[in-house]
Amino acid sequence: MAGSAPAALLVRDLVQLVTPAGTGAPLRGADLRRVDVVERGYLLCAGGRIADVGRMADLTSKRLRSHAAGEVAELDGRGLCALPGLVDCHTHACFAGDRVGEFALRAAGATYEELHAAGGGILSTVRATRAASADELRAAVGRHRGWMRRHGTTTFEAKSGYGLDRDTELAQLEAVRAAGGVPTWLGAHALPPEFDDRDEYLDFLVRDVLPAVAPVADAADVFVERAAFDAEQARRLLLACRDAGLALRLHGDQFTEIGAVPLAVELGARSVDHLEATGADGVRTLAGSDVVAVLLPASALFLGRPMPPARALADAGAAVALATDFNPGSAFCESLPLVCALACTQLRLAPEEALAACTVNAAHVLGRAGEVGRLAPGYRADLVLLDAPDWRYLAYHLGGDVVHTVIEVGSIAWQRSA
Ligand code: NIG
Ligand code: FE
Repeated sequence: MAGSAPAALLVRDLVQLVTPAGTGAPLRGADLRRVDVVERGYLLCAGGRIADVGRMADLTSKRLRSHAAGEVAELDGRGLCALPGLVDCHTHACFAGDRVGEFALRAAGATYEELHAAGGGILSTVRATRAASADELRAAVGRHRGWMRRHGTTTFEAKSGYGLDRDTELAQLEAVRAAGGVPTWLGAHALPPEFDDRDEYLDFLVRDVLPAVAPVADAADVFVERAAFDAEQARRLLLACRDAGLALRLHGDQFTEIGAVPLAVELGARSVDHLEATGADGVRTLAGSDVVAVLLPASALFLGRPMPPARALADAGAAVALATDFNPGSAFCESLPLVCALACTQLRLAPEEALAACTVNAAHVLGRAGEVGRLAPGYRADLVLLDAPDWRYLAYHLGGDVVHTVIEVGSIAWQRSA
């Protein structure tokens, strides 16, 4: 109900309370490894915000009263570790149907690119998504959002890109917004069947679709790839999107390096995502820029592709983020804890780096670093409580059932049944 602030909630007796250190974003270099760990801690939420954080030994009723006037509900944190709610900055969570048949074909040897070239892949999800009603799309995003929440995600981005026409793209973006997500317009995801010329399709996007989607989307994204759009085509579309007030993202270097990284830097994009094929020049270019390298190891794993050069990027000083890439074709995986496990085992990131990459740095990619991604007074009271004696179980417990409770805007949004 409008105007009724959530009651105060005290999460007490936590084993550990952990947050990326400092106040800036994005974190890079040595800062990417700095976390603040409070042993035996508490966190007080009031009015949907974090009001206070500290050690149990310092928690007095006077201190509590100075931060929360009315009744304070309590949550027993014994045996639990608190982290910032996780931020998934790259998903394709608005889709109908599935691609389980293609999954089986890939298991038998077909490649993702072959399926795409044969009219399957993204275009098969486009057919299913175009056939869905707006209500069905809203229900799909809501269901997928629930899956993400159970893995600790409290902020999520989701792209369009399975409509490729004005009305379905718009319906996708509205469904994402209605579910509380951050919508990104990915009109240039593939060439739809009613076009046979990429430049004509881009003309249509700029003329007929961009004016309709710009008020709903936060950002625009382009799939820069041999089988999708080249760097010149991406530049044209992204410049029009920037003029329309959208932040810019790119899918780049997933299979081939065809200029996505220099283009992202030239245009001042928020991020370039994937990077499985990025070489030494791309690493250097990103490290010298403000563009965040968004790494999607679940997608590389799911497709049996090489992992992105995460260690080289982090060592060179690039800002890195981690995300699931949740979608029906290349990454049917909604779990950021699993992505953190892959980051530590396959990308050779430290648990501290993985945590920063899917909290503060991911929040930066979404333009929300002052709002979410840290456990500190003033931030939105979004947190995840792990059933673990050490917060690093987030990445250590591979595929494990680590998430105990998810708190969003100061209220319990999900809790594991006993
Ligand atoms: O990020 N590579 C392009 N887009 C998605 C996959 C979408 C799909 O296969 O449906 C990705 O991997
Ligand atoms: Fe993607």
